[in-house]
This record gives sequence, C-alpha cells and structure tokens, in this order.
Amino acid sequence: MVCFRLSPVPGSGLVLLCLVLGAVSSYALELNLMNAENATCLYAKWQMNFTIRYETASKNYKTVTISDFVNATYNGSFCGDGQNGPRIEVQFGSGFSWTVNFTKQVSTYSIENISFSYDTRDSTTFPDAKAKGVFPVHESVALKIPLDDIFRCSSILTLEKSDVGQHYWDVHVQAFVQNDTVSTKEFLCDKDKTSTTVVPIVPTTLPSPTTTPTPKEKPEVGSYSVKNGSNTCLLARMGLQLNLTQDKVTSIINIIPNTTNSTGSCHPQTALLRLNSHNIKYLDFVFAVKNENRFYLKEVNVSMYLVNGSVFSFANNNLSYWDAPLGSSYMCNKEQTVSVSEAFQINTFDLWVQPFSVIQGNYSTAEECSADSDLNFLIPVAVGVALGFLIIVVFISYMIGRRKSRTGYQSV
Ligand SMILES: *[C@@H]1O[C@H](CO)[C@@H](O)[C@H](O)[C@H]1NC(C)=O
Ligand SMILES: *[C@@H]1O[C@H](CO)[C@@H](O)[C@H](O)[C@H]1NC(C)=O
Ligand SMILES: *[C@@H]1O[C@H](CO)[C@@H](O)[C@H](O)[C@H]1NC(C)=O
Ligand SMILES: *[C@@H]1O[C@H](CO)[C@@H](O)[C@H](O)[C@H]1NC(C)=O
Ligand SMILES: *[C@@H]1O[C@H](CO)[C@@H](O)[C@H](O)[C@H]1NC(C)=O
Ligand SMILES: *[C@@H]1O[C@H](CO)[C@@H](O)[C@H](O)[C@H]1NC(C)=O
Ligand SMILES: *[C@@H]1O[C@H](CO)[C@@H](O)[C@H](O)[C@H]1NC(C)=O
Ligand SMILES: *[C@@H]1O[C@H](CO)[C@@H](O)[C@H](O)[C@H]1NC(C)=O
Ligand SMILES: *[C@@H]1O[C@H](CO)[C@@H](O)[C@H](O)[C@H]1NC(C)=O
Ligand SMILES: *[C@@H]1O[C@H](CO)[C@@H](O)[C@H](O)[C@H]1NC(C)=O
Ligand SMILES: *[C@@H]1O[C@H](CO)[C@@H](O)[C@H](O)[C@H]1NC(C)=O
Ligand SMILES: *[C@@H]1O[C@H](CO)[C@@H](O)[C@H](O)[C@H]1NC(C)=O
Repeated sequence: MVCFRLSPVPGSGLVLLCLVLGAVSSYALELNLMNAENATCLYAKWQMNFTIRYETASKNYKTVTISDFVNATYNGSFCGDGQNGPRIEVQFGSGFSWTVNFTKQVSTYSIENISFSYDTRDSTTFPDAKAKGVFPVHESVALKIPLDDIFRCSSILTLEKSDVGQHYWDVHVQAFVQNDTVSTKEFLCDKDKTSTTVVPIVPTTLPSPTTTPTPKEKPEVGSYSVKNGSNTCLLARMGLQLNLTQDKVTSIINIIPNTTNSTGSCHPQTALLRLNSHNIKYLDFVFAVKNENRFYLKEVNVSMYLVNGSVFSFANNNLSYWDAPLGSSYMCNKEQTVSVSEAFQINTFDLWVQPFSVIQGNYSTAEECSADSDLNFLIPVAVGVALGFLIIVVFISYMIGRRKSRTGYQSV
C-alpha cells in the first residue's frame, strides 16, 4: 500500500488519501538524531514491515506480519563517536528490535548490515511457537551513498532470508548530516531510477525550492475552548493557515481541527489558547486586556516540527490584533492575516474568539472586524440610496401626473 503525500505536513495528506482509498494507513517511522550541540547528525524517515514464518508445536507453520510501529522507541540510537559510527536502533512490539549501522569513507557513507530480531516467547504474537527464544537475522545490504546526499527510495525494497521477509519503502535517510541541515540533494535507489510506469515516485516531502506543494484551499474551521475547572472560559472558532518561510522556501500549512488539541489558561488580565498536534509542538495565542476595557491578541508563540526534521520556533509578544471590548467577542469572517514575523504569518478564516468573560459557555455579542463591517455598513447605504432614488422617481411621476391632469382641466 503506497500513499501519496499531498501536503507538506507529515501525516495529514497521507492520512487523507489513504482514507480515501479505503486502505489502512501505514505508519512512517521518523528519527531526527541530535548531537551534544543539538545539531542534527542523522535524519531518517521510512516505512517497513516484516513477515515471519515460524513452526508451531503441532508441526505446522504460521506466518505473522509485523507492521505496527506506533509505539516504537529509538533507544540506543546515537550519532557516533571516535570508535563507532552512527546507529539507528528501534524497539517495537513485544521484543522486536531493529538496528542499522553507518560507516563513513572518504566521500561516501554506507549501510553494510541490517539486523532484526524477534522473540517467540511472546505468545500473543507467536501463539503456539515450538521454539521459544530470541532469533536474530542479519542482512547485508552494502549500500553506498555520497556524503552530504540524502538517500531516497520510494520503491519497495525486499530482503528475504529463511523465515523472515523485510519490506522497506518511502525511505529517506541521511547520516553524517553537516551543519545541522538535512540535504536536499537526493541519491535515488536503483529501483526509483528505473521505475518509469511504477507510478509511486512520491514527490519528496523534504523542502526544496522546486517541490513545495502549496495547499491553496481554505483551511477547515475548528472550534476550540479552554476550561477553568468545569467552566469554559475561552472560546475560539477559526480556520487557520500557517505560512512560513525558511531558507526561501514557503510552506503553507492548514491546521486540521480533528487532529488538533487545545489547552490553555484563563486569568483576569491574560488568557492563553494553546493548540497542538502531531507536527505542532505548540501554537500559542496569548490575549491581554488593555485600558481595563478592551482585549486583544498580544502574542503568538509557535514551535513546530518541519518535514525535514528541523524545528521552527518563533514568538512575538508585541502584536495588536483582534481588538474588541471586554464582555464581547471578536468576529471576522473575511480572511485576515496575523503577521507574526516576516517569515511567519497566520491566515485566519471565519474567526470568532472570546478570550474573556465567557458566560455559560456561550459567545457574547460580537464586535466585527472592519473588513466585515465595511460590508455591513455598505448595505444600509445601498438601501438608503435605492430608497432615495425611489422617492425621486415617485416625486417626478407625481409632478408629471399633476401637470398632465392640470393640462387636462384647462382643455375642458
Ligand atoms: C540541547 O537541548 C536541551 C533540551 O532542549 C537543553 O537542555 C540543552 O541545554 C541544549 N544544549 C545545547 C548545547 O544547546
Ligand atoms: C508489507 O509491505 C508490503 C510492501 O509495501 C506490502 O505489499 C504488504 O501489503 C505489507 N503488509 C502489511 C500487512 O501491511
Ligand atoms: C501503545 O501504547 C499505548 C499506551 O502505552 C497503549 O495503550 C497501546 O495499546 C500501544 N499500542 C500498541 C500497538 O502497542
Ligand atoms: C527506552 O527509554 C525510555 C526512557 O529513556 C524507557 O522508558 C523505555 O523503557 C526504553 N524502552 C526500551 C524498549 O528499552
Ligand atoms: C556486516 O556483516 C558482515 C558479515 O556478517 C560482517 O563481516 C561485517 O563486519 C558487518 N559489518 C558491520 C559494520 O557490522
Ligand atoms: C552495529 O555496531 C554495533 C557496535 O559497533 C555492533 O554491536 C552491531 O552488531 C552492529 N550492527 C550491525 C547491524 O552492523
Ligand atoms: C558547513 O559549513 C562550513 C563552514 O560554514 C562550510 O565550509 C561547509 O561547506 C558546509 N557544509 C555543508 C555540507 O553545507
Ligand atoms: C506567504 O507569505 C509570503 C511571504 O510573506 C507571501 O508572499 C505569500 O503571499 C503568503 N502566502 C499566503 C497564501 O498567505
Ligand atoms: C472530522 O470529524 C468530524 C466529526 O467527528 C467528521 O465529520 C469529519 O469528516 C472529520 N474530518 C476529517 C478530515 O477527518
Ligand atoms: C481559573 O481562574 C482563576 C480566577 O480567575 C485563576 O486564578 C486561575 O489561575 C484560573 N485557572 C486556570 C487553570 O486557568
Ligand atoms: C488530544 O487529546 C486526546 C485526549 O486527551 C489524546 O488522546 C490525543 O493523543 C491528543 N492528540 C494530540 C495530537 O495531542
Ligand atoms: C514561548 O513558549 C515557550 C514554551 O512555553 C517558552 O519557553 C518561551 O519563553 C515562550 N516565548 C516567549 C517569547 O514568550
């Protein structure tokens, strides 16, 4: 099962299309290893599954497939030191482990072996197994990649040995990452190079100036709230689209309400709405009170994981948006932009917020943004103009009518 990635947000586009196809979405493993200076030394994102054939106590053979890595841990993965090269170690399920080592040559780095081990003592995964114990499988892959290139393989790579089949696809990996920057220069596997009709050359999800898919569609509108005890103290309804520019590459990210959680806090002078999701560590909206009678959006503080494994963080606590009287809510149905910095903007759609004085979980009267109220202001003007025009028409007809009847009189 191959999913087409549509958006730059890991997971979102993937989940969507997999759902559309009615298939089980597969889980991508992702690791962004950092060294002591918090710089990325190794980045990997890939999908895999395993089929294991084992003998049962009744001398039959059973085959199990391992494809659930939701709870995978990466203990033991490390950047490498003087003696050892970098290493990825993954633990999952009940007693599975998977290891790959990287070594460096003059102008290349390589993966020589992949180790996988499974534990048949787990009777849920291996019911009725005849031989109980840990079974390791070593596969030699001998893959050489130029230094500073990222290896990519969308095609399926299969390794088979006796009882174990290993499948890998959608692989992106770079070891010996320089300057904390995952490379955009790809080294393709042979299968990707030759696959002409095998469609799934999935566009790379790593940001590079030529391949930035930009979802232009309006974001879905989500409703968020914050509670203080059992009382709702902050309400927000909005469609959010993030626009961030990094290294001259612009990413447009629509926030998907279904997979976004809200938390926060409410105090008399300040209120916080914090959104988070799998790729947004936090997106904070901080509201404040001014002149004791109005509220406004004072601060936005964001930290999010980008598809290339880096983290984008930014805060600005000197904003002035969404201004309305305390005791009311702020509404703006038109698209509006909150400009947090030159490199980070938030486009809002169908916005309705009330960060203070929420009574019984309901919005109070809304103060509309000028963009909306311009329209509302225009309607009475238009009606007025039309009415005025009508009055003039009626008056003129009356005058004409009167003159006609007067002429009529005179002629008699
Ligand atoms: C690396 O990040 C951790 C946690 O974010 C922090 O505690 C540590 O001080 C950072 N180290 C350096 C050298 O920046
Ligand atoms: C395992 O991966 C292969 C290759 O992508 C795929 O054909 C197969 O359906 C997968 N099996 C499961 C159970 O996900
Ligand atoms: C993953 O971990 C959670 C919480 O520990 C647990 O509830 C869930 O069953 C685990 N999922 C799998 C597939 O092991
Ligand atoms: C991985 O490390 C975490 C914390 O460092 C620990 O809680 C967890 O049990 C470890 N997992 C395995 C499989 O060793
Ligand atoms: C890979 O496996 C071969 C044969 O099993 C072994 O000789 C070699 O040392 C292994 N390489 C690494 C880096 O472990
Ligand atoms: C990776 O390196 C470690 C330590 O050098 C070694 O114990 C392990 O067998 C190696 N694994 C592979 C798959 O080469
Ligand atoms: C890393 O930075 C150094 C010094 O700024 C530069 O000479 C080198 O070319 C950079 N390497 C890569 C791969 O960008
Ligand atoms: C995103 O931001 C860039 C730079 O500020 C701007 O040129 C572009 O029009 C914005 N795109 C959207 C959809 O807001
Ligand atoms: C979000 O959830 C609602 C109801 O829970 C559902 O109707 C809608 O289809 C979901 N949207 C997506 C994109 O999953
Ligand atoms: C709840 O409201 C009280 C009074 O305004 C405030 O002191 C407290 O910090 C609030 N708690 C939270 C979690 O917002
Ligand atoms: C959102 O909250 C629910 C329940 O608290 C939790 O199960 C889920 O993992 C959260 N989702 C995210 C993206 O944090
Ligand atoms: C942004 O939020 C983070 C995490 O809560 C915090 O450490 C940081 O100080 C905040 N930045 C600003 C400018 O408020």
